[in-house]
Amino acid sequence: MKQHHAAVADAAVIAEAAAILEEGGLVAFPTETVYGLGADAENPAAVARIYEAKGRPHDHPVIVHLAPGADLDYWTTDVPEEARQLAQAFWPGPLTLILKRNPQIPDAVSAGQDSVGMRCPSHPVAIALLQAFKGGKGGLAAPSANKFGNVSPTTAQHVRDEFGLDEHDDGAINGDDACSAAELGMVLEGGSSEVGIESTIVDMSRLATHGPVLLRPGHISAQQIADVIGMLPAAPDQAAPRASGTLESHYAPRTPVTMLSADALADTLPKLQAKAIKVALIGHALPADWTASAHAQRVLPADPAGYAYGLYAALRDMDQGGADLILVETPPQDHAWAGVNDRLRRSVFGSAGVIDALLQK
Ligand code: TXA
Ligand code: MG
Repeated sequence: MKQHHAAVADAAVIAEAAAILEEGGLVAFPTETVYGLGADAENPAAVARIYEAKGRPHDHPVIVHLAPGADLDYWTTDVPEEARQLAQAFWPGPLTLILKRNPQIPDAVSAGQDSVGMRCPSHPVAIALLQAFKGGKGGLAAPSANKFGNVSPTTAQHVRDEFGLDEHDDGAINGDDACSAAELGMVLEGGSSEVGIESTIVDMSRLATHGPVLLRPGHISAQQIADVIGMLPAAPDQAAPRASGTLESHYAPRTPVTMLSADALADTLPKLQAKAIKVALIGHALPADWTASAHAQRVLPADPAGYAYGLYAALRDMDQGGADLILVETPPQDHAWAGVNDRLRRSVFGSAGVIDALLQK
């Protein structure tokens, strides 16, 4: 994979971040997928601080991040051989495995469920932090570093925007957003997350009865998983563990966002423009005459990895330009685009009728 100016972590800064975490504080850090909001996974009070900072419901489990080579059996129990094969194949990298939680691990990280999500990230700053924290033997509980329901951050600036911090703010109390600023001890820099959407999540905790289950599609595809373990992960069933990223409405900007095929866009854009409705366009094959007449626009690469890399920044940027509506050109629907389409589907959830409502004003 290509590197996008991944910052090499300064050892003193990493040591400071590890100390904040060891004392029960919160540190936002880059991963290759999105930025995470980290806390000591074995400190329930620290984990509770994550929920407070995010405004996240308490019944949503968080992923535990480990340093490369850390002892998976300290955290989990009854790990199937197939799960070890996946860890071997894809860690460090953008894959989260749901496994049976070792009863000695506080259930705060799994919101009371008997499972736990485990992932070893590949971003060099995340690895340096995990190696410094508790001498590489700890785990960092870390959801995406955004307020609940918002688009995940893929840069340190996105994190600061979410929590109302200044560029040089290292957690000092700050203006009217003092509360959230005070909660976040430090934001580590690491450039733009190279994957750009959250990790693939596979439930391996019920393998014997349900087989592998794909809870969240991502950069690592179901087919790549099947290539390693000889079983294609199934879509989630009724009894599958809860995952907040699987709520229907998620990853949503404030500006209404909806998705249309290129044909429907060609039909609808002139109508919106005739009514002086400000449209921000996101697409992968937008004709130049459309983008020229749009209020704002972002053309993303026409390949799934490149598109995923730019998607969240595009949603954030289009959200900030004062548009009345964000219109996304429906991406290709084949398997390679599953992760992108999953995030877009959630971002546009509930938007049916938004265009008609704007046109009727
Ligand atoms: O790429 C990622 O996974 C990023 C980076 C920071 O690692 N993290 C992330 O975390 O996306 P979060 O909390 O925003 O989403 C994690 C998802 C949630 O939908 C959560 O419910 C699910 O993983 N999850 C975590 N532990 C689980 C468990 N034990 N059972 C079922 N789902 C779980
Ligand atoms: Mg999230």
